[in-house]
Amino acid sequence: MSRYGSIRNSLLIEPKTWLITGVAGFIGSNLLEHLLRLDQRIVGLDNFSTGKRSNLEEVREAVTEEQWQRLTFVEGDIRDLATCHQVCSGVDYILHEAALGSVPRSIADPLATNASNVSGFLNMLVAARDAGAKRFVYAASSSTYGDHPALPKREETIGKPLSPYAVTKYVNELYADVFARTYGMETIGLRYFNVFGPRQDPEGAYAAVIPCWIRALIKGETVHINGTGETSRDFCFIENVVQMNILASTSTDSTAVNQVYNTAVNARTSLTELFYMLQSRLEKHYPHLRGCEPHYRDFRKGDVLHSQADISKAATLLGYKPTHTIDAGLDTALVWYMANL
Ligand SMILES: NC(=O)c1ccc[n+]([C@@H]2O[C@H](COP(=O)([O-])OP(=O)(O)OC[C@H]3O[C@@H](n4cnc5c(N)ncnc54)[C@H](O)[C@@H]3O)[C@@H](O)[C@H]2O)c1
Repeated sequence: MSRYGSIRNSLLIEPKTWLITGVAGFIGSNLLEHLLRLDQRIVGLDNFSTGKRSNLEEVREAVTEEQWQRLTFVEGDIRDLATCHQVCSGVDYILHEAALGSVPRSIADPLATNASNVSGFLNMLVAARDAGAKRFVYAASSSTYGDHPALPKREETIGKPLSPYAVTKYVNELYADVFARTYGMETIGLRYFNVFGPRQDPEGAYAAVIPCWIRALIKGETVHINGTGETSRDFCFIENVVQMNILASTSTDSTAVNQVYNTAVNARTSLTELFYMLQSRLEKHYPHLRGCEPHYRDFRKGDVLHSQADISKAATLLGYKPTHTIDAGLDTALVWYMANL
């Protein structure tokens, strides 16, 4: 059984045409794999700024040749409006994932982050509107909760953004809302909370914590924890994210559209706990990790201290039910990292 076996496939009976932007990235390529397995037609767009051709190759190997032939891939950039018009033409659902992720990247280069995440996003909204797409589902972010201390996070209560990246993701929500009200579009924003899983890039200065630490542990390098280790996150396995994207695209409940939804599990794991979850799993395969300890250093600017999602809105309006806890997700993700690192 594929790792997507538990998603309720009955949701997708008729073949539709989907546009996935950022299709060569971590989340985009997992959406692609799942939708191709469901015999959907896909238009995929990516400029390979952080995405990889190898992610697309891996999807090709995971599906049948017939399913793969249902993908039309366009190498291009959402900062170019003509490209956005080209890829939106004739599609039913849009899953907009293309953006420059990472809080520290946005602090180092706010202009680049803004160009893809705000100007590129606006191009995509305009193109989706002009093409008459049925629904525009986009990657929002838990960073929008900013400095608001309330836990668990509920969609209607946000604080001030703590980074340029967080500003761009909040602007996405504002634009989507205005386009829905002004042009009658159907949009849904998914506030992802620390997504992890196969194909998430472990390399580079801007790698997310789980792949970054798995890589360091396997290679015998020091794992650095920023802060005391009490910092906590609602880590969300990719399969839950795929489920949310499909539910958001296909929901026929009119009260469910033109909303934003937390996309997470409603659990909280501290960074120290995460370290030992990874170390204890990996030491069975890598003896050099027995007794291995993390190294603590200063807290990182722009980071939120604690994060945990209330997922009752998605459960009530979309029927969302996460299938994977962090434990189950790590077990699956580690198989992939051990085979690929
Ligand atoms: N991974 C997470 O935990 C997380 C959390 C919150 C939000 N998000 C959002 O989810 C989306 C996907 O993130 P991901 O983790 O898969 O990151 P990723 O970097 O693996 O994927 C992003 C993809 O978008 C492409 N891209 C970037 N700029 C582009 C442009 N101008 N034109 C065309 N393609 C472009 C990249 O090449 C890459 O393939 C992003 O919008 C990100 O902000 C992710």
